[in-house]
Amino acid sequence: MSETTHAGNGISPEQAAVEQELVDTVVASFDKAEDPRLKQVMQALTRHLHDFLREVRLTEEEWNAAIEFLTAAGHITDDKRQEFVLLSDVLGASMQTIAINNQAYKGATEATVFGPFFLEDAPEIPIGGDIAGGASGQPCWVEGTITDTSGHPVPGARIEVWEADEDGFYDVQYGDNRIAGRAHLFADDEGRYAFWGLTPTPYPIPHDGPVGKMLASVGRSPVRASHLHFMVTAEGLRSLVTHIFVEGDPQIEIGDSVFGVKDSLIKKFETQPAGTSTPDGRGGNNQSWARTRFDIVLAPVLI
Ligand code: BEZ
Ligand code: FE
Repeated sequence: MSETTHAGNGISPEQAAVEQELVDTVVASFDKAEDPRLKQVMQALTRHLHDFLREVRLTEEEWNAAIEFLTAAGHITDDKRQEFVLLSDVLGASMQTIAINNQAYKGATEATVFGPFFLEDAPEIPIGGDIAGGASGQPCWVEGTITDTSGHPVPGARIEVWEADEDGFYDVQYGDNRIAGRAHLFADDEGRYAFWGLTPTPYPIPHDGPVGKMLASVGRSPVRASHLHFMVTAEGLRSLVTHIFVEGDPQIEIGDSVFGVKDSLIKKFETQPAGTSTPDGRGGNNQSWARTRFDIVLAPVLI
């Protein structure tokens, strides 16, 4: 059993031995776990948790505050609000888990955080259809291809897209059962897709609970960089959960509250003045619109 010492922390060897003995006893309490993976996880959790407690020399008052924090997170969590996922997100634990489980595969599009606002059963739209469903915002033409890492198109790939409106809210946050700013579509025979969405704008993660309070007390903003969510699935290829971000969005420099930004996912959104004809000939209104391109490359399943 490796013993961790915190050199220079003024702890006597006797005290350090008492603390280490407890760690060893708790670790050993999992020795008989039948599931080897569960045993590994629980023993590592124990070691790291005790290392943390000893490194910061946690006070009993702080322990109580932590219990109160977790209790408040539990109280605000229900089937629509998941404060523990939010906590994982703002601690970077979600992105670290994604990084571990989506090891970069040469040429494949990078994954990022899922977020809490995906809905199964979003409406199907045809290629070139509109996901807005009444959500407010600047129309944005989004187009691209789905290919594998050898460059072969992936016909029929299922593309789920979802985003907040220009006021920074997802449909589900309005609590009136509206479905807006989300849809799914399928890539055509050449792996191409296109749809009308909304130019993404920055918005805060839900911050009226304990996680928001924690962010405020450490001087961190709850705001996410502007983004549009994608989930792409296709037989025989690794499913991809990702977003695209808006080049030039100042929030990218300020910092995304859940650490989701990756350079490869920052895309140009080109604003077109009102009256400019649209790729599908829809045009005809007096509103400006934007366009962007996102070519998606799916990794193979077995790596
Ligand atoms: C989002 O992208 O909408 C999101 C992601 C993580 C936490 C909260 C919201
Ligand atoms: Fe989002």
